[in-house]
Amino acid sequence: MPKPSFGAAKPGRSGLETAVAAHQEQRLEEAERLYRTHLMAEPNDHAAHNLLGSVLFQTGRPRAGLAAIGRARDLKDDFAPYLVNAAMCHLSLGETDRARGLIDRAAPLDPKSWDVKAARLIAAIDGGEHELAEELRAAFAAGGTDAAKALALTFMAAGRRDDAIAAAAAFSAQAPRDPMARDLVNRLSSTQQLSWHLQMVRDDARNWAYRTAIEAMVGPDDEVVEIGAGSGLLALMAARAGAKSVTTLEMEPVLAAAARRSVADNGFADRVRVINTVSTEAKLGQEIKNRATVLIAEMFDSLLIGEDALHTLTDAKLRLCRRDARVIPARARLYGRLVEHDRVVAGGPLDRPVEGFDLSALNTLSTGLAQQVRSDRGTGRPLTDPALLFSFDFGAPVPLTGSVALDLPVLQAGRADAVQCWFELDLSAGVTFSTHPDTYDNHWWEPFLRLDGRPTVQAGETVPLTIDYARTVVRARLI
Ligand SMILES: C[S@@+](CC[C@H](N)C(=O)[O-])C[C@H]1O[C@@H](n2cnc3c(N)ncnc32)[C@H](O)[C@@H]1O
Repeated sequence: MPKPSFGAAKPGRSGLETAVAAHQEQRLEEAERLYRTHLMAEPNDHAAHNLLGSVLFQTGRPRAGLAAIGRARDLKDDFAPYLVNAAMCHLSLGETDRARGLIDRAAPLDPKSWDVKAARLIAAIDGGEHELAEELRAAFAAGGTDAAKALALTFMAAGRRDDAIAAAAAFSAQAPRDPMARDLVNRLSSTQQLSWHLQMVRDDARNWAYRTAIEAMVGPDDEVVEIGAGSGLLALMAARAGAKSVTTLEMEPVLAAAARRSVADNGFADRVRVINTVSTEAKLGQEIKNRATVLIAEMFDSLLIGEDALHTLTDAKLRLCRRDARVIPARARLYGRLVEHDRVVAGGPLDRPVEGFDLSALNTLSTGLAQQVRSDRGTGRPLTDPALLFSFDFGAPVPLTGSVALDLPVLQAGRADAVQCWFELDLSAGVTFSTHPDTYDNHWWEPFLRLDGRPTVQAGETVPLTIDYARTVVRARLI
């Protein structure tokens, strides 16, 4: 299923064209819905059956994909793209021999097709046919732009990320101006960055807090909406807690597919719907059937607001929830304290020559934020007590900008290098989760807002500090 194969799509069918456009832009839920609508009007459109099969495969449902492609093949057999697409479904189900059989039928029908060869390469890799795999890799390396593109798309569709990244890089090197090459590299690198989910789902302290709150707050009458399915973990918790229905929205297609599979694997497909969309585009009556009685979200970066939680939760509460809906978390707070911290400063603007050279031109890369992995904990020295910076109530619209001016009493002398921050989430009565650096040691990093000037401060004096936030960004300055 390397890509939607458009060969058999006739021009002038605007419903199908819209579906194909959504498909190409990776809006897969929408594409599926549009293909299905189109097929109700034109049940014999084999191209549309095949494309629907592609979407089903790409969203982690190869069996359903095979059924749809089977209908395409009933209407038009011996057509190489359909045979290859069916083969890709079999490959993802581990049915290498069946895949190989279909590819062998496709090859003479379209001997020049790089899509057929790419599927054969995957079958060779899976089937342990090392020599053939090497031969095919060499053919792709010498095959020019079309070969590189077909290989990247096929590996990507098959979810073989490392191979896809290498192939996309080769494609992009051969066709640096091709927007599809750029798009592929971008999409794959953002997928690559998603690996932090593997750490996050192992954060037991976080999971315990959400589970305890969900079990206390969700009951059999509840229609739950979650923003940001990720692995599907919190949606599964809500279903297990007895929710009548759970709709979880996930903007990353790769994650939405994984979450959908996890929901099915755990036997909750009848009550949990995973929808691949950004929440602000989800509509009541469409993606969201009824207004939610409970809204759940864990979309907090280490500085709380960097994933656009303020805007997203305000939007969801107003548009997708009942007025009296409970929100998990109901409130969140950001805290900070002044610290001396050599390592945090090391990533800040250059303030001295390096090896005798003035490299201050590099300072354009400097941001006010430093993030430390937890293993570096303990190198900072607190100079003040913690101070509450901002408090957000998710039951009501949250202001997207804010500013606080503080006079912090200095407890011990030192260099005011940064404001060390952490956050708290009020998840349910009695369950508050905190990333306080003295007590939390897991997947969220420790964020530090660097301070310009880094003055030395004395015990007993007060330091005037201003902290601003604007939607997703927090900044600190001494005034
Ligand atoms: C921090 S992860 C949490 C995942 C999961 N809920 C959990 O707790 O393990 C946040 C997820 O929300 C998704 N996300 C962020 N903003 C979103 C939005 N506005 N609509 C849909 N998904 C969103 C991200 O792609 C990411 O997968």
